[in-house]
Amino acid sequence: MASDESVSWGNHKIEWSNDLLLHMEQEDGDHREMFVLMNRIFSAAQIGADMVTQAVADLCLFTREHFLREQHGMERAGYPDREAHRYDHEYLIFQLDVLIDRLMLSGPECVAEELVDLLKRWLCDHILTYDQAFAAYLHERGQKVA
Ligand SMILES: [Fe+2]
Ligand SMILES: [Fe+2]
Repeated sequence: MASDESVSWGNHKIEWSNDLLLHMEQEDGDHREMFVLMNRIFSAAQIGADMVTQAVADLCLFTREHFLREQHGMERAGYPDREAHRYDHEYLIFQLDVLIDRLMLSGPECVAEELVDLLKRWLCDHILTYDQAFAAYLHERGQKVA
């Protein structure tokens, strides 16, 4: 463990890619913001454990709000796969809550790798599968999420 309490996470940074664009203004804006908040966790790791905890809490709060916005959009659109999509949101939040509890108990250095893996799943896998499927449904019908 580092003696100055900083956490050594290497050069973790998850880069935004335009492959993740859904061509929906609110959605894409939220997803980009999630990248910003996630990368802030890595910067906070250079400063100290308290900063990491705060940065994770910020990302978690924003992500919950984003998921609710998306779920309302799916309801309004009558999207048929909305239950499975909502379930994936809830599963991701559950996993994050477990990691946050462990982070509080053991410190960021114990959960760093798992946190990185989980965030990559959030920000890439989920967007490229569930969110893209919802976007495709809307685009096919010429609908927009208000
Ligand atoms: Fe989603
Ligand atoms: Fe999303």
